[in-house]
Amino acid sequence: MQLSSSVRFSVAPMMDWTDRRCRSFHRLLTRRARLYTEMATADAVLFGPRERLIGFDEAQHPLALQLGGSDPGRLAAAARIGADFGYDEINFNCGCPSDRVQSGRFGACLMREPGLAAECVAAMAAAVEAPVTVKCRIGVDGQAPREALFAFAAAVKAAGAAALIVHARRAWLAGLSPKDNRTIPPLDHALVHALKSAHPGWPIVLNGGVASLEEAREHLARVDGVMLGRAAYQNPELLIAVDPEIFGERAPFADPFAALEAFRPVIAQGLERGERLHDFTRHLHGLFTGRPGARRYRQILATEAVRRGAGLEVLRAAVAAVAREPALAAE
Ligand SMILES: Cc1cc2nc3c(=O)[nH]c(=O)nc-3n(C[C@H](O)[C@H](O)[C@H](O)COP(=O)(O)O)c2cc1C
Repeated sequence: MQLSSSVRFSVAPMMDWTDRRCRSFHRLLTRRARLYTEMATADAVLFGPRERLIGFDEAQHPLALQLGGSDPGRLAAAARIGADFGYDEINFNCGCPSDRVQSGRFGACLMREPGLAAECVAAMAAAVEAPVTVKCRIGVDGQAPREALFAFAAAVKAAGAAALIVHARRAWLAGLSPKDNRTIPPLDHALVHALKSAHPGWPIVLNGGVASLEEAREHLARVDGVMLGRAAYQNPELLIAVDPEIFGERAPFADPFAALEAFRPVIAQGLERGERLHDFTRHLHGLFTGRPGARRYRQILATEAVRRGAGLEVLRAAVAAVAREPALAAE
């Protein structure tokens, strides 16, 4: 099925980072960016605490559920559950390089098995109305990226993938940690541009190392969408400019102070449910980067929001430390 809303800009799936609370905050900063869950394995969705793993707040649309696995039947069943939860897209992880993932023969390993990846996509696409997309690398280990990526793309496209998101670096499955696998293998954005030229009618999203909206706009001249991971998480203020600069629409809030004010009731509800302040504020540490007082803000959150029973007054005190006007130079 076709993607019903734009893929022009998205925030990447990030384990332990883009949880439900983080996404609630990101959604306040941009109405239009497509958001992704952390990866959930098909087995976890089938057999785990489902609501806790993949439950989400309605305000988070457009939202994609990312699944990991390599058993077509189980992936199809998990995709169906995701679609019933109301996700707008089911995304298939073919890019994660961790050991845990390798022993399960999924994630980036599937770049070596395009036939199996295609079977998985076909099974999911047959099971749900929602579009099924794939996120991959440009290759793994010693694979020649051009051949590996183009063959993989052709296979999943033929199987019914509605779009392909490409993290534009190879993954080294032996010898590099997942963290190193996000920095050490060199980026090849040009290869993703070339893939787009070869598939003019099929949405291709570029991911990896895009640091600013200005860079994102440059890529958008050559691909259908750009996905930002670390830059968006570590400097969420960047997301306030997404609606005006990428979609030509009004920003939801004038500045991050106003967005944070709107986040307070969401946090308050969480606290009432017994969640901790830090569960929310850990996603806010990157806010206000570059403004005088940002360091003090982070210090207060890091030391006081973690205390048992900490309430919204801690967030208020932290924000009060920040100057309203951005500094010309970073503190
Ligand atoms: C903390 C962290 C967790 C990640 N978890 C996932 C994940 O669950 N699924 C996935 O496809 N990629 C995951 N990634 C990779 C990102 O989605 C993205 O492909 C990568 O960070 C490159 O984009 P960036 O340079 O804009 O950060 C993760 C990245 C980070 C930093």
